[in-house]
Amino acid sequence: MDSENTPRFSDRFEFIPGENDLYSLLGSFRNSGQDWIDLTVSNPTKVGLVYPREAILHSFQKPESMEYDPDPKGTFNARRSIVNYYKEKGHIISEEDLFLTSSSSEAYSYLIKLLCNPGEEVLIPSPGYPLFEFLSVLEGVEFNSYKLNQDDGWKIDFEDLDSKITNKTRILFLVSPNNPTGSTLTSEEFERLRIISKFKKIALVLDEVFSDYLYEKNQEQIDFFHTDFPLFVVNGISKILALPQMKLSWIHVGGPTNWKKECKERLEIISDTYLSVGTPIQLALPELFQWRNMIQSQVLRRIQRNLQILESFRSSHPQIVYTSPKGGWYTILQSKSFLNDEEFSFRLLQKEKVLVHPGSMFGLEEDLGSIVVSLISETELFHSGLEKISRLL
Ligand SMILES: Cc1ncc(COP(=O)(O)O)c(C=O)c1O
Repeated sequence: MDSENTPRFSDRFEFIPGENDLYSLLGSFRNSGQDWIDLTVSNPTKVGLVYPREAILHSFQKPESMEYDPDPKGTFNARRSIVNYYKEKGHIISEEDLFLTSSSSEAYSYLIKLLCNPGEEVLIPSPGYPLFEFLSVLEGVEFNSYKLNQDDGWKIDFEDLDSKITNKTRILFLVSPNNPTGSTLTSEEFERLRIISKFKKIALVLDEVFSDYLYEKNQEQIDFFHTDFPLFVVNGISKILALPQMKLSWIHVGGPTNWKKECKERLEIISDTYLSVGTPIQLALPELFQWRNMIQSQVLRRIQRNLQILESFRSSHPQIVYTSPKGGWYTILQSKSFLNDEEFSFRLLQKEKVLVHPGSMFGLEEDLGSIVVSLISETELFHSGLEKISRLL
């Protein structure tokens, strides 16, 4: 047999689930040219935003792109433009504390390499971003989930979190605003996390990719950049500029001075090993930041409109529970009618040609009956997608 003469694959892939019914059905739609309404869309380049195309493309036409002069941290000018971005938001940081990566996923993989030995553990929020699980497994570490408490506005359930910390725990992942709950970290939670980090010697990694997409004015600002405990902030232009295809993210390193110095020396070894960020995007970045308000205002307007539509949808379906998100690009709808969430999502796609994420994909408990929808979907499609959900209900 063929497999007798070929090398085996790594055990990492044992974790990866096979294709489920929903994605098989989607595959058959694709193959037969069948159309569907995608209420899971997270790719901003596919939702009808108007980009300053010519200006963006022009920013990449730099003669210096033909030279290779790598800096493991990323070019100084690109890092300076990130410093300026934070300055506009009221945060003073240093270029010296920034490391560029090609994506936030890559940033996470660097941080796991930096902090964890194989077999050690990271803690991830639940409900939360499903990719953390894959990233952990691919880096050879274990993951465990800590709960966010729905009855408390999706704040961290500290009792649950404490019970999950073991002597193998090295990283606590946080996402604010969180995907898919739309909840944001409060200063009270942050203070408790500070104590956990200091006493248990666990580093915090905060994903703030949605931090420019807050819907309520005057939300409290927390300083994530000047801390007396190890805190890494991850962000990037896939959400800030809605340009995921340009592949640029970063890590900000924060913590006690001596620790930070040692940390940066090691992170530099990792970055220098890969040198994965392309020169053209680093050269273009300062100019691309100019378009931040133009792009973000469109996304925010879109989200506000979709939230209004969602509000009227909810008022005609009182059985649907929904906690207004504070920020981000996604939200959760819950109803006993969505039980079981995977079967409901399958029926919805099969009968009404509308795709939603089953909540269990994000760690939502199955008996809650949850679906997750994207708030950046084109408004007409969002509206008709919800109408079709009504029809099925
Ligand atoms: C919480 C969170 N972080 C990061 C990302 C993606 O970032 P990147 O494209 O830089 O890997 C996403 C994408 O949806 C996300 O939901």
